[in-house]
Amino acid sequence: IHVAVLMGGWSNERPVSLMSGNGVADALERVGYKVSRVDMDRNVAQVLAALRPDIVFNALHGVPGEDGSVQGMLDLMGIKYTHSGMVTSVIAIDKELTKQRLVPAGIPMPKGTIVDSESLYSGDPLPRPYVLKPVNEGSSVGVAIVKADSNYGDPIARESKGPWQEFDTLLAEPFIKGRELTVAVLGDKALCVTELKPKSGFYDFDAKYTDGLTEHVCPAEIPADAAQYMMDIALRAHRLLGCKGASRTDFRWDDELGLEGIFVLETNTQPGMTPLSLVPEQAKYVGISYEQLVDIIVKEALA
Ligand code: DAL
Ligand code: MG
Repeated sequence: IHVAVLMGGWSNERPVSLMSGNGVADALERVGYKVSRVDMDRNVAQVLAALRPDIVFNALHGVPGEDGSVQGMLDLMGIKYTHSGMVTSVIAIDKELTKQRLVPAGIPMPKGTIVDSESLYSGDPLPRPYVLKPVNEGSSVGVAIVKADSNYGDPIARESKGPWQEFDTLLAEPFIKGRELTVAVLGDKALCVTELKPKSGFYDFDAKYTDGLTEHVCPAEIPADAAQYMMDIALRAHRLLGCKGASRTDFRWDDELGLEGIFVLETNTQPGMTPLSLVPEQAKYVGISYEQLVDIIVKEALA
């Protein structure tokens, strides 16, 4: 079976995708697949038409690749691929569309508001502290926490340089104090809960990808009812969005409020797949090696 591993591309998460893609490709080779590594550029359709793979392993993160564009192209080309399909990807890449799908179904998510970044110069969209994030980025690209004493200005001064500035549309959400947790879903099963403990600050891009900056506690040391609740929610989100293969739902938990303090931030349809990423780590905890994990994802997509 010939697998083309699609990676790289030109999103802000290109370096992460190259790590995911090469990790996946190495593992697929160890399992015995014929593997082509495709660093996506604008000729990707021609490259894939020439390669004629049996399946594409989608190891892309961000836009394009996680947003339905590549999925739609592959649908039209008649090439099977791993992970979620086009419509699911379009919804899940957008944190606001995700809310519109999940909140009415009872998934707890923070009540936010969409703002255009220009409007930030005339005042705060929410009481501080709040979080500003691009609606469709991953890996915390462009995320800022506006604290009560942030020196972004009050109102936010035009000169102040925030990571949001290159984005026109942002999501503002109340900052949920407390803990950062995540649950992977593989196929039709939530794996476990991991708690992320950044050594300093919040779980931003550097804390995510610099070895040693964040402690992963897997399984999280939390009460069984909270763990079960988060796993149930992650599985429900996966199903409500129509995810395929692996997904990962991220949470904040203000644990002083008990289960009422648990909120979903988003569901990732193209979760990190580097050998040290959270989904492989949770798979390992339930007895699935990295090689078995990529093999399961390919087999499910081929079926
Ligand atoms: N966006 C990164 C890759 C993740 O969700 O793991
Ligand atoms: Mg994400």
